[in-house]
Order: sequence, then C-alpha cells, then structure tokens
Amino acid sequence: MDAAARVAALRREIERHNHAYYVLDAPTIPDAEYDRLFRELQALETEYPQLIRTDSPTQRVGAKPLSEFFPVRHAVPMLSIRTETDTEPTGARAFDARVRRELGLSEADAAIEYAAELKFDGLAINLRYEHGVLVQAATRGDGETGEDVTQNIRTVHRIPLRLHDCAPPVLEVRGEVFMSRPDFERYNEKQRAQGRATLVNPRNGAAGSIRQLDPAMAAERPLSFYAYGLGETRGWELPATHGAVLDALAACGLPVCEHRAVVQGADGLIGFHARIREARDALPFDIDGVVYKVNSLALQQQLGFVTREPRWAVAHKYPAEEALTTVEAIELQVGRTGAITPVARLAPVFVGGVTVTNATLHNEGEARRKDVRIGDTVIVRRAGDVIPEVVSVVMERRPMKDLFGGEPLHPPFALPKTCPVCRSAVERPEDEAIARCTGGLFCPAQRKGALLHFASRRAMDIEGLGDKLVEQLVDNAIVKTPADLYKLGLLAMANLERMAEKSAGNILAAIEKSKTTTLARFIFALGIRNVGEATAKDLARHFGNLDAVMNADVDRLQQVPDVGPIVAASIARFFAEPHNVEVIEQLRAAGVNWPDGAPSAVANSPIAGKTFVLTGTLPTLTRDEAKDMIEALGGKVAGSVSKKTDYVVAGAEAGSKLDKAQALGVSILDETQFRELILS
Ligand code: IVH
Repeated sequence: MDAAARVAALRREIERHNHAYYVLDAPTIPDAEYDRLFRELQALETEYPQLIRTDSPTQRVGAKPLSEFFPVRHAVPMLSIRTETDTEPTGARAFDARVRRELGLSEADAAIEYAAELKFDGLAINLRYEHGVLVQAATRGDGETGEDVTQNIRTVHRIPLRLHDCAPPVLEVRGEVFMSRPDFERYNEKQRAQGRATLVNPRNGAAGSIRQLDPAMAAERPLSFYAYGLGETRGWELPATHGAVLDALAACGLPVCEHRAVVQGADGLIGFHARIREARDALPFDIDGVVYKVNSLALQQQLGFVTREPRWAVAHKYPAEEALTTVEAIELQVGRTGAITPVARLAPVFVGGVTVTNATLHNEGEARRKDVRIGDTVIVRRAGDVIPEVVSVVMERRPMKDLFGGEPLHPPFALPKTCPVCRSAVERPEDEAIARCTGGLFCPAQRKGALLHFASRRAMDIEGLGDKLVEQLVDNAIVKTPADLYKLGLLAMANLERMAEKSAGNILAAIEKSKTTTLARFIFALGIRNVGEATAKDLARHFGNLDAVMNADVDRLQQVPDVGPIVAASIARFFAEPHNVEVIEQLRAAGVNWPDGAPSAVANSPIAGKTFVLTGTLPTLTRDEAKDMIEALGGKVAGSVSKKTDYVVAGAEAGSKLDKAQALGVSILDETQFRELILS
C-alpha cells in the first residue's frame, strides 16, 4: 500500500474509533492500540507533509495562538428563543395555545406535533461543513456576526472534523458547546492540585475555553457538544420534521442528545417537562430548562419569527434554584486535610426542590469578598447536586446598630488564629486561598475526616460507616487510624450508644468485605493531599503495585500522566512519613489486599525522565522512529545539547551537536548502544 492510501485508511479508522469513544461512549479498541494507530499516522504525516489535511485527526491541536478572533457573518442569522417564565404546566399550555392561534386552528383540529429537547447551558456554535469537512466554527455573537473560533472547536473531540458518508456542498450545524459536570470537577481537581486557578462553573468553563486565543489552552479543557439545529444548507435534502433533522445529523456522526422526544400537543409537552425534571439531577451536565419546537419544518416556516425569536419555539424553565434567606451564624468546618471552611447556617429555605439550611462560603477570602455577616439577607443557589452556596448579600437589608445609616450590627468575618476543634495554630500559605489547621491527625476533626474519606463509596466503600458512627469511634478513642477499623470487635461496636447488635454486625461485615479492593481505591482512600480519584487511578495503572508507588521519587512520579511537581511532592512527602507507612503496613497485615497489575512500560523504563538529543543519520531507524521509542518509554527528546542532556544518539554525518556533547562530557551512543540501553 502506498503512503497516501495508508494515511487515508488510518484516518478513517481513527475517526471511527473517535466516534465510538467520544460520541457513542462505547470504545472499540484499547487505548494503547489507538495510540499506536495515531502515532503511525503522525509519523507518516511527518514524513510526507504534503499528505496533511485539515480534517486529519492529528490536526485537532497544534495550531498557533491567535492575536484576535476574526468576525464571521452568519449566512442564516442565529436566532434566540423566547423564554416562558411560567414554570408550571400552564406555561406549556400557553405556548401551544399561541401556536394554534397563529395557525388559525380551532379546538376541533388535531393536536400539534412537537419536538421536545433539553436546553443546554453553554455556548451556541455554528459549524460549517463543506463537502463533509469542517471548514469553520463560529460563535453566535449578536446573531448576525459571530467570531471565528475554528481552532478551538477543533480541539473538541466530540465534534467530527469530517462527516460520515455525508458530503453536501454546504451543511451548517448548530448546537451547544458545554462542559459536563464530571469533566468540570476533574479539571478543577487537576488545577487545584497544581495550585492553579479553578473554574467557577461549567458554563464559564465552556465559554472561557472557546474564547481562549491559544488553542493549546482550549485543548486542556474538556468540552462536549450537542447538535440541535441547522444553519445554511446547500445540496442537502431537508427532512420534513425537526426530529428527522436530528436523526439525520446523528447519522452523519454528530452528537445528538438522547433526551429528546416527539410528542403530541400541550399534554405531551407537559409530560416531557415533568420527566426531565425528574431526570435532571442525574444528568452529567447542567441544563437551563427544556425547549419545545413545532416538529414540522413546513409549519415552522409558516409561523416565522418576531424580531429575533421564532414563533415556533419556546424555552420552558424550571423553578428557580435561587432563593432569599437570612444568615443565622457563620460556623467553621475542619476538613480531613485540615482545610477550614466557613459555612453559613441559614434560616431553612426551599430551593430547587430541597430545603437548604447551610451554604458554603468556600474560604476566608470569599467570605470577605462577598462580605457575608451574621443577620444578613442573602441569595443562596443550588446547582445540580452540588453544595448550596451564597451568591451575594442584599446590602439594603443588613441589620444596623441604629436607624440612621450608622455602623453594621456585626463585624466582617475573620478567621480565628487557632483551630476551632483542637486549638492548634491555623496557617495560610501566602499564595493559597485555604487556611488549614496544623494539628494533623492530632486534630479529631481531621481524624474523622480521614476515616470518613477512607470508608467512602469511591474509596474502600465501607457501607454504614457514616458521620455519626465515626464521630463516636473517634470521640471515644476507639479508632485512631484506618487500620484500627479492622481490629474492631462486636463487643466494642455493640457497646456504642444507640447501636443495635444487628447493625454492629452489619458494619463489621462491611469492614471485612472492604478488605478485598483495588490498588486505585486503596491509594485514593489514603487521602494523600492532592491525590483525587483520577490521580489514584493513574498511579495504580502506571506503577502496577503499591511498593513501586511508595518507593518512587519525585522524578519517577512526574512521569505519571497529569502528575506535576506539586502532586509529586505531596505523594513523596506522604510516603516519607513513617507514621503513614506504619498505618499502611498495619492495613496490609490486617488482610487488606488487591490484585497487582503489570506496571506500564514507562514506569520500569531505564530511560524514564532522561533527555536525549538525536543527531546524524542512524543506520536503520528514522529520527521519528527513534523519537517515538524514546517518548514511549518516558524519555524526552530535545533539539540541542546542553548540560541537562543525558544522552546523544549519533549517526552518520553528525555535526556540531556531537562536538558539543563531547565538549560537555555527555554520553554518546550509536544505534546499537541505544537499542541496548532501552532494552536493559
Ligand atoms: S434552538 C430556534 N435548541 O439557547 C432558535 N437553542 O436562546 C435557535 N440553546 O443561543 C436555537 N439548547 O445557545 C436551541 N435545544 C436547544 C438549545 C438551544 C440551548 C441555547 C442556544 C441559543 C439560546 C437561545
């Protein structure tokens, strides 16, 4: 097969796997095999640059930063949707009645068919495909003119760079770019671990990412996309209904949300509204309500639009997730890492379906910035299933010492100098937002937090070991470390206040069951600072067994994907602490166990973390092949020789780099020696 044919075949295959992985959420091949195909394509494109196409999967990242976005005039204006503020079923009835009136229908006429879908909470984007290839992506802007954000949109893996068996001269697809909640949390976890700024909410995450001038920055933020409509089309046979348009787009390989339905009349709309309300908290992304659209495109045309809003569509919201209440007290919570969080105790208020009695103020800085004080009237918000937060203070209602605009009754919030639980000193490093109790596991609050974390569902998963029980176990000095849990007997448990013998037995059984676990869960359960679930999985996959993780130095740790210097330092510090090692040994001795995995090639590699420079022509390896081999084993390839270079691999006609390596005393290898080194 010639190179061009192989490149085309690789692209098709990679795109097929991309679609399965990102759109259908059903991976078809192991990651390592995917990486191999991807690297083969990259290597061929490096060798034959004339074969590179903009729709190649290798071209998603790597574009240069822009100095500004260029304006794009939309061929078909991007409209907005009228919002129905009546969140009750009457809101849907009013829309249906309006549509029927506009169409001159009487009560005797049949129900209108609607397409009902979700209102995604992100950023509207127009994707322009010409002959099946993504040529431009633009934001909505003012509806007439948006901004060209093609480079950033290319980094969104769910958006196909080429459509499947669908190549009309022009097909513009409209939809929403957004960030899912798990992606948002994972991204923030990573940012926090590296001491970098976090995103406020998924919506800002999506909008901010698309507005990055540097596509490399955009690529770091995981975005999703759902198609919900069309812009300009040429040479594409338009289906008769909106529902069929979405089916056709899905068939072209575009992601279309499965939570949609074609329904009849107002009752159908009301049913959909209610169903989504139930499903809402379980969705992996935030929504802003639902959208109803007249299903027939012919009727849509007939209805037309007023100003910028079509008469055939409406957004139907859900009851507000914000409410007013008053602050009764500001208390301090000490978490398992000693982090001290101010929490506002609130007069109970019903928000988004639940009664809220407290809301986090995050940290001292936030509490002061928002200037929340006792007695204040505040706006609280509950988004999805996250902890409610105080949005802002209604200053006009702040209680004052007198009626004539004198001083506020209560002083601004300030953090105490000592821990409210154990009286150890409170410290806040200059460049951090979070203040911490320095008491470590001496502090009962931290001990309780560590135990709860250890037992939590995603860690050791000990069912029944909740707040109340941990509280008693720690306060009565029955349990000091996680290892003590495995020494508990029925007597000690059943003697606890309000503990029936049966439930004591159940908990002991759950503790016993937790002994068989996985390495990733165990590492996560240890509660190492900056090591969340994702990092724990990466560590387990990379090293394969616990001793390798415990013995790794910071250089080795940094070879793990997404582990930077701060996380590596936390891990090394944790295992350098004899007390921690002792607890781990006790846990193993108590019978906690997991199957070890094979460490990935990189962890065992003799060249992990080493820097190579390649020069001259090697007898059998091309430069790219050598580079791939080095990188696959965790080494780095640099362009020039310096004191930091570990090895120079030199072939025929090596030039000044070889001279410099000799001058600096850097090890020089020929291809044979290089092969021996990497196999050692
Ligand atoms: S259709 C018919 N469908 O809402 C008008 N828009 O206020 C064209 N949005 O800017 C939009 N989910 O960003 C449509 N399922 C959905 C949507 C949706 C979210 C956003 C979109 C648009 C805004 C309109």
